[in-house]
Amino acid sequence: MTRRPTPSPFRAFTLDSAGTEPLHRQLYDELRAAILGGRIASGSRLPASRELAAVAGVSRNTVLSAYEQLLAEGYIHGRPGSGTYVADALPESMLPEPAVPIATDGSGTEARRLSKRGERVHDAFMLRHRIPAVAKAFRPGLPALDHFPMDLFRRLADRRLRRANLRLLGYCDPQGYLPLREAVTAHLLASRGVRCNPANVVIVNGSQQGITLCARLLTDPGDEVWFEEPGYFGARASFRAVGATIVPVPVDREGLVVSAGEAAAPRARLAYCTPSHQNPLGVTLSLPRRMALLQWAQAAGAWIIEDDNASEYRFRGRPLASLQGIDTNGRVIYVGTFSKVLFSSLRLGYVVVPDDLVATFVHAHDLNERGSSAFGQAVVADFMLEGHFARHLRRMRTMYAERLAVIERALAEFAGDVLEFHRIEGGLNQPVDLPPGVDDLALAGRLLAEGIVTLPLSDYCDRKPARGGLVLGFAGVEEPEIRAGIQHIAAVVREIALAGNGHR
Ligand SMILES: Cc1ncc(COP(=O)(O)O)c(C=O)c1O
Repeated sequence: MTRRPTPSPFRAFTLDSAGTEPLHRQLYDELRAAILGGRIASGSRLPASRELAAVAGVSRNTVLSAYEQLLAEGYIHGRPGSGTYVADALPESMLPEPAVPIATDGSGTEARRLSKRGERVHDAFMLRHRIPAVAKAFRPGLPALDHFPMDLFRRLADRRLRRANLRLLGYCDPQGYLPLREAVTAHLLASRGVRCNPANVVIVNGSQQGITLCARLLTDPGDEVWFEEPGYFGARASFRAVGATIVPVPVDREGLVVSAGEAAAPRARLAYCTPSHQNPLGVTLSLPRRMALLQWAQAAGAWIIEDDNASEYRFRGRPLASLQGIDTNGRVIYVGTFSKVLFSSLRLGYVVVPDDLVATFVHAHDLNERGSSAFGQAVVADFMLEGHFARHLRRMRTMYAERLAVIERALAEFAGDVLEFHRIEGGLNQPVDLPPGVDDLALAGRLLAEGIVTLPLSDYCDRKPARGGLVLGFAGVEEPEIRAGIQHIAAVVREIALAGNGHR
């Protein structure tokens, strides 16, 4: 019996050079559909760009563009010269539920076109891969949700509902529930030296929304924005979505290198930074750098967004008050959140804005959301005003300091030969450096498939970092899981480093 050759999925492409979609986009769509449909198997090697170009009858650049897009979205991994492979864990497979397609009326793509603004939002992705939203080793950015005093919170919520305060059931002041703004003001004044009164505080649905408001209200398309490199991908996406031009500014042991920002974009419109503990490196912006940043902003007429996310957790180093607190020119907009002290799905945060911007921020929040949930705000206000917030924070600080010590010991004990780390000063994430040549995107994908959640340093970078790294959240993870997880990561990295080809 003669064997028939297996039909190659790569020969079946139907690309239309006269079509409205560019060829690289058509090729990307075909490859993505073939990967998701299983016609190109997970883990299999894709043809070299030259080879596929010949088979599909397109230029090599067309193939390279399609591959780059797939790479950026996490469908494939690899590097030029050593092969390109289909990812083991595909982005769609990480969604909590299978996506059900919604039928369209079949009209042409032109009729269903997004606005330019919509296209920018579509393209401004946060992460290449979805990661589970649970606090398992080592999901960055989550507190220990299992230690939240749920019974107490439920009692406060019940009490609010029983009182049947009718005002809580109508629309809330779009600036926020006054007792909560007062409680936030007192907290920020005492613990962060923020200069404000309740009239400067706007309650929003988490700091992500605060940053998006800043991006929309303070930048125009094409405006330059200094952005920490590496830096928080969610904020970068907010600025991308409004069409700002990201200017990556390096971060060293003293935080944002202000002189590098001045050299790259002296007339930038805005600088985004995380001074209390840089996300993801965990270093504190030094006092001289703070002064230099404020001086630059004043001279350039620029805004500074101080994202103070998780600043409540500081473990070592000299505590510095907020940047906003030493700004005498009203150039700093301060953004904070309850996500890391209470719980993330609460969706409550706050923005502290200078007097002349308050009305605009409140109006924008009103237009977007009609303000934040009055009920949620009232319960959180009670939680703060009755002393539970301060108590919970104290308990969590102690526990996270212990967990930080555990992860540091585990890294030294089990991973000293493959993972380098520096001691962070604050925050809930421990970054580690990988041996040169180890591809962090591929490594994080493999670890995820093996049940360990991490974020690759590349996800925090605008440009490919010189050396890969992983960001490990430790706050929500118990000691045995931390120790086992670090041993697992070390073993995988050792295996990859020994294989010597940087991936798989
Ligand atoms: C630096 C930073 N900013 C903002 C956010 C968004 O937080 P949220 O919108 O939950 O307040 C995060 C989340 O992890 C973060 O790490």
